[in-house]
Amino acid sequence: MAAYARDLAYIHDAGFTQFIRRATPGLLGLLQRNGIGDGLVVDAGCGSGVWARALAERGYAVLGIDISAEMIRLARRHAPAAKFRIGSFTDAALPRCAAVTAIGECVNYAFHRGAGRAALNGFFRRVYAALQPGGIFVFDIVEPGVSDGAPLRRFLEGSGWAILLEVAEDRRRKTLSRRIVSFRQVGQVYRRAEETHRLHLYSGAEMMVDLARAGFEAQQFDGYGRFRFAPAHAALVARKPA
Ligand SMILES: C[S@@+](CC[C@H](N)C(=O)[O-])C[C@H]1O[C@@H](n2cnc3c(N)ncnc32)[C@H](O)[C@@H]1O
Repeated sequence: MAAYARDLAYIHDAGFTQFIRRATPGLLGLLQRNGIGDGLVVDAGCGSGVWARALAERGYAVLGIDISAEMIRLARRHAPAAKFRIGSFTDAALPRCAAVTAIGECVNYAFHRGAGRAALNGFFRRVYAALQPGGIFVFDIVEPGVSDGAPLRRFLEGSGWAILLEVAEDRRRKTLSRRIVSFRQVGQVYRRAEETHRLHLYSGAEMMVDLARAGFEAQQFDGYGRFRFAPAHAALVARKPA
């Protein structure tokens, strides 16, 4: 499955970073409230590095991990002070750290082999092992019931790009598929590319159970700080006991 190849990585960065930008103040507040004013933050599914840059500007050391080489290329440009690695956070080595973040539905994606709740639980255990006592793990999810069940088609456009989006939720399998046809201007023409992203849908309640099993003290929220999510999205803030 293609995972944010050249044009879709570019378009994500050009037109779809509003989520992380609106989330940033609340995320920084979470770190502060948990006594994490410095140290290493691992950003799993770092995308084009918007959050990594915000962290680095505030003096945190940052390691961003993303499965898309094109996202990592953009992230290195946007956040030169941070370190980045191409790979799946589900099997990448996680260094000792103060916090782990996975912002923007990263844990839902089925880009890596064996994706699903069991693999996600393995990731939770490895995050727990990597965190220093008192460290936090923050992520958000898209939940079952995100659509009314009917397939949805939309088009979205920006300067020099357009995408056609087809979204279908399989309520029985608890999966979501997003077929994305992108057009990016290259000189006088628009280049067409296509990716289909498959996501596993998890409920906040399921995540609370799994996080507790991994040893975390977790809380569920419907946003980051003042930034409220759309329905059927949840944030989980999980703390490794001190
Ligand atoms: C919707 S984007 C969010 C990017 C960024 N966190 C943000 O908020 O702008 C989801 C990101 O997760 C990455 N991703 C999905 N599954 C991954 C995995 N198993 N390992 C590493 N990165 C993954 C994708 O490549 C993509 O960059």
